[in-house]
Amino acid sequence: MRLFVAIDLSEEMKAALVDAQNAMYDRGVRGNYSPEENLHLTIAFIGEYPEAEPVLDALRTVRFTPFELVPDGVGSFGDHWWAGVRESVPLAAVARRVRRALAEGGIPFDRKGFVPHITLIRRASKAPERIRIAPRGMTVDSISLMRSDRGRNGMIYTELGCVEAIQNGEAAP
Ligand code: 2AM
Repeated sequence: MRLFVAIDLSEEMKAALVDAQNAMYDRGVRGNYSPEENLHLTIAFIGEYPEAEPVLDALRTVRFTPFELVPDGVGSFGDHWWAGVRESVPLAAVARRVRRALAEGGIPFDRKGFVPHITLIRRASKAPERIRIAPRGMTVDSISLMRSDRGRNGMIYTELGCVEAIQNGEAAP
């Protein structure tokens, strides 16, 4: 299985990102746009791994409280363009904790530095210009273990499990 840990986005945030994709398309940018249901923010990319349960066990050790995630600006890795998010100390902290938990659980993951991004388009025909993303954010109250499969018409992402944030008043273990 090809696995990764990600934040699933709210419908409202996905709608803001789809608006930005539509604006890019209207400006003549062609390429492989991420379908709305695939929009997500990856926390850690595990890659090929045979079982979900040990990964979920590792993720269950991660404690975090709900935090805000707000899209902010557009960036790129070459012709791969993405939406960034407003700088967030809790997001960086949760990424650090997830990665530490995976390492302690002996689960391999891509250790490249964390650049929080939401892929909008791969193999873009040209650079999108003057794209504004509405700052419609969301509260992150869970993180998900996802499986990625190559479907007939692109990637299919399936949630295998998730861990919830600690809500106010809940006892920290
Ligand atoms: P991307 O959107 O920038 O391609 C599933 O492939 C998710 O894991 C995507 O969000 C992808 O980011 C991310 N990812 C991170 N590192 C990866 C890697 N080394 N190979 C493939 N996907 C990776």
